[in-house]
Amino acid sequence: MNHILEQMQPSASMQLMARAKAMQEKDPGVIGLAGGEPDFPTPARICMAAMRGLTEGDTHYTPAPGIPALREAIAEKLRRENGIDADAARVLVTPGGKNAIYTAVCAILDPGDEALVLDPSWVSYAPIVSAAQGAPVRVKLHAAARYRLTREALEAAVTERTRLLIINYPNNPTGRILHADEADALEAFLLAHPRVLLLSDEIYEAIVYGERSVSMGARPSVAERVVTVNGFSKCAAMTGWRIGYLHAPREVFAAASKLYSHSVSCVSGFLQAGAVEALRCAREIEDMRLVYEQRRDLFIGALNEIPGVHADYPEGAFYAWVRFDLPGMDAAAMSEYLMEKARVVGMPGTAYGEEEICAMRFSFANATGDMAEAARRIREAVLALG
Ligand SMILES: Cc1ncc(COP(=O)(O)O)c(C=O)c1O
Repeated sequence: MNHILEQMQPSASMQLMARAKAMQEKDPGVIGLAGGEPDFPTPARICMAAMRGLTEGDTHYTPAPGIPALREAIAEKLRRENGIDADAARVLVTPGGKNAIYTAVCAILDPGDEALVLDPSWVSYAPIVSAAQGAPVRVKLHAAARYRLTREALEAAVTERTRLLIINYPNNPTGRILHADEADALEAFLLAHPRVLLLSDEIYEAIVYGERSVSMGARPSVAERVVTVNGFSKCAAMTGWRIGYLHAPREVFAAASKLYSHSVSCVSGFLQAGAVEALRCAREIEDMRLVYEQRRDLFIGALNEIPGVHADYPEGAFYAWVRFDLPGMDAAAMSEYLMEKARVVGMPGTAYGEEEICAMRFSFANATGDMAEAARRIREAVLALG
């Protein structure tokens, strides 16, 4: 057996989603807020486009990096919306953003190379780095500073062996966006460390509640070192379709597309036809964002009224990152307690690397009524602790 995989834990969010489903089979009143899964159906226009592809025989291999129409549409979107000088020839269409990250990380790292991963951050970055035989190194960000990204935090983690930095904005789990001053600090850091490439995971980009997050690929001084990852799962409610993409510097693209041609081959042509349509669905995506905003305001507002509970209003994505200052409670205990007492399933903050405070992440990509009921039950459970 591969010793790295023997020691690896399965994805904590996938595990808790499965646990919530199992609990719901016995008790349909259980509210599952662990997964990052929009409750909206995929917009009908997107489904129709895929169905047309399916019935018209688009059921064979496509070119490995993707169909030209989709790669062109993605490059055009990256130029128009993100200010990236994108080239369709460097776009790789992948089964989900997760595979785009995995493929890029494998393409970049040599065994033993270090990759910086923000702490807290999404559960899969560090395991992906390990699976690629790299060494994940955490960049500690602090709740007290609202998880602001600083040059000091990056400098404290970088070494001669650092080859990659992975960032994700809007951020899962903290809900932060990348502000211009943080992007300046990041740019200065990259200029001071020319060996380090940047992977910018922008999968939640359209789900923001104020200004948009900066795309580092739009900064000319570092653009040739930035891999931009995005996809359709979250913003277009297409989690089950498994389709995402990356745009990479020439050498990274060359290595990534070779690995991809030997490992995945291609994404189904009819799904790619649906993705082309998804890129034209700004209105449908905005309609969903507006609902997330209402749920955010409702859920975060209600949680902040509970004694000992605090949550900042996220600037993006659809997660409440909630701090519990309750005697004797850590994140694991809190998550078990809420599962049992409130029948609400959330993610313990430790799954994202947050050990300093007792934090939990709850997704508000769930029915508005469920969010109100979850907040009510969490309140009752916390008050019952006395
Ligand atoms: C930050 C982040 N990146 C990537 C992904 C993976 O997205 P996909 O479903 O497109 O593989 C997720 C999904 O939870 C995520 O939260």
